[in-house]
Amino acid sequence: MADFETLTFESADGIVTVTVNRPQKLNALNEQVQRELWAAAQRLGPDGDLAGAAVVILTGAGGKAFVAGADIKAMIDMTAIQGRDFSALGHRAFDAIEALPMPVIAAVDGFALGGGLELAMSADFIYASQASRFGQPEVNLGVIPGYGGTQRLARLVGPAKARELIYTGEMIDAAEALRIGLVAQVFPTEGFMAAVRERAALIAKRGALAVTSAKRVINAGLDVPIERGCEMERQAFGLLFGTEDRREGMSAFLERRDPQFKGR
Ligand code: CAA
Repeated sequence: MADFETLTFESADGIVTVTVNRPQKLNALNEQVQRELWAAAQRLGPDGDLAGAAVVILTGAGGKAFVAGADIKAMIDMTAIQGRDFSALGHRAFDAIEALPMPVIAAVDGFALGGGLELAMSADFIYASQASRFGQPEVNLGVIPGYGGTQRLARLVGPAKARELIYTGEMIDAAEALRIGLVAQVFPTEGFMAAVRERAALIAKRGALAVTSAKRVINAGLDVPIERGCEMERQAFGLLFGTEDRREGMSAFLERRDPQFKGR
């Protein structure tokens, strides 16, 4: 297993929490963090030592920021080619996170700006504390979002709102982020991580095969015509009838008891 210097891992009750840990730089994403995020996705992927996780929580250390963006100091002297490669490194890491089989929740408590918001958007959804702030401020630096923000933000909140956020570079608060559908829920800042863990535990209790199947179909269907997405849904729905969890879930309902899912 690779050594990690900018990420920490905590595993409990099927929930793995991955924390970006560069608080003195508001967890800004330099090359090392991006490489380690990719390596983290390998640990959580099908062949990794953390593959058994039911849910992943992705967060930032220090209490002030989730991630304040790509590391501006690291970018200051880059050539065009280096800029493109730096962007590609982020894309590779975030694509790997997005492709993880289990749900990934971004827990944002503080600033999620630029590459930080792009990282959060590569998760399945975002939970935010009331104290959080979101934005794509890249135009203030003479660049554009470079880790998928032009694509994922437009898909998440619609092209008009994405354009407004990206062209102005302005920050929005958690309430506005909830209103536009950027975040799935906002929790009080006090006790935020406990609230996120409670939601993660709820998902972890569900049938893992059904949850991962739903994730696969939702993601695969986002960029294809709806008829193809619905066909994928029919196939995946049918396949689940071959699982023990499907029989257990339906039997438990009919027997008026809680299901005991085994992931088989
Ligand atoms: N890159 C490098 N360092 C950063 C950083 C970043 N994105 N964001 C914050 N830091 C560093 C600061 O330089 C500072 O370090 P020093 O103490 O060594 O000077 C430390 O983190 C604390 O930051 P501040 O003193 O600025 O804290 P603040 O409370 O006054 O302000 C903030 C907080 C509003 C988030 C401000 O730090 C800020 O605006 N950060 C930059 C946000 C930004 O522009 N992000 C987009 C980056 S570009 C990008 O992400 C491109 C892409 O899509 C690929």
